[in-house]
Amino acid sequence: MKMHLSITVAWFVLAFLSLSKVAQQFSESQFEQGGYEVLQYGNFKEFLDHKLNISQVLASFLVKDYTDCAFECLDNIGCLSFNFATKPAIGTDQHSCHLLASDRFNQSTRLVPSDEFHHYTFWV
Ligand SMILES: *[C@@H]1O[C@H](CO)[C@@H](O)[C@H](O)[C@H]1NC(C)=O
Ligand SMILES: *[C@@H]1O[C@H](CO)[C@@H](O)[C@H](O)[C@H]1NC(C)=O
Repeated sequence: MKMHLSITVAWFVLAFLSLSKVAQQFSESQFEQGGYEVLQYGNFKEFLDHKLNISQVLASFLVKDYTDCAFECLDNIGCLSFNFATKPAIGTDQHSCHLLASDRFNQSTRLVPSDEFHHYTFWV
């Protein structure tokens, strides 16, 4: 009986794992576009090694990590997305954070591969 129970439990665990795998693949493929690596965190998405190549920057900051940049963007009315430097600025342990008043929906051709930035966009 005990053996039977643990097999049942193991079966549930396996079923759960494969279901979450399927769910994960579904959400990844749903958000994958044009070969970008797109990850989703809460209400924003990350486009690794890409930037939105626009010259108008609403504001720039040096921040510890992308979450600080996300908070700056949330605080700035008009901020729709941001580019976050992959490497710290020279001589600091902080990364450039560029808030942008545009996003990939109206500037889609400007989302370009980049060695220097990851792009994050809000998903509302
Ligand atoms: C970024 O935009 C500038 C100005 O529009 C353009 O000259 C440059 O080629 C663009 N860079 C990339 C990687 O598309
Ligand atoms: C992009 O779209 C947003 C809202 O949809 C708008 O507020 C913003 O001005 C647009 N930016 C550009 C450069 O068209």
